[in-house]
Amino acid sequence: PMAKELFGLNELGEKIRLAYGLQKVVVVPGDSDSSPLTKRDLGRAGAKALLGVMNQAGTVAVTGGSTLAAVAEELNPQGSMPMKNSWFVPARGGLGESVEFQANTIASTMAKRLGAQYRLLHVPDLLSDDAYQSLVQDRNIQEIVQVIRQCRIIMHGIGDAMEMTRRRNLDPSSSKEIQKEGAVAESFGYYFNEKGEVVHRMITLGLRLEDIMRTEIVIGIAGGKDKATAIHSVLKFGHENILVTDEAAATEICRQI
Ligand code: F6P
Repeated sequence: PMAKELFGLNELGEKIRLAYGLQKVVVVPGDSDSSPLTKRDLGRAGAKALLGVMNQAGTVAVTGGSTLAAVAEELNPQGSMPMKNSWFVPARGGLGESVEFQANTIASTMAKRLGAQYRLLHVPDLLSDDAYQSLVQDRNIQEIVQVIRQCRIIMHGIGDAMEMTRRRNLDPSSSKEIQKEGAVAESFGYYFNEKGEVVHRMITLGLRLEDIMRTEIVIGIAGGKDKATAIHSVLKFGHENILVTDEAAATEICRQI
């Protein structure tokens, strides 16, 4: 019998929660790779998880991607909690993605939907050494990067490493190198191997690994059977608190545990 016949969604979630020592795992039914409705449910579950940990004040850093865009779409103010002292910022510069999937777009959409504040970081996702060296000297950029690094909550997507090198139009030699290093997952600009070790990083401005490690609440959100290996890898990295995923990914992750 298939795993999904043996376990309900809650059991799948609980198995993952215990295996990786997470605070909370939410599993929505279906496969968001093949079903837009499941993707919407995933977004809705993500929005609920985010609202559940937000305070009246504090900064939320978000990454880009289609899953975070789905969360933004489903974010609605809850009750009477005032959000005007909450801030949304992009986790990194993100001009490499298409506009609707950029972290800046998602941060501003989320803030507007909740009546919160936002600040943006208008720099490319992937920087050359020279560009990085000059941008880090800029006062305005330094200021927003400080805000990003002091966030209380991070909500981020998780991608398959090779798919992300394609989506980012990396040159073939860089992609080859990343593949040779054994990367299976990409998240917040870092590439991870199956053991959850960082094997490659992009030169970007914004959150660094040490910021992620000390952030109070890290929420990962990703679904689809094909992302199971990538999700497993980021969970192994070991700094997630909450995972929001779908049945297809959860079933496959449970096979790998
Ligand atoms: O590029 C931003 C990003 O969050 C990546 O870090 C991640 O790998 C990817 O998007 C996930 O994208 P999607 O939700 O569209 O699969």
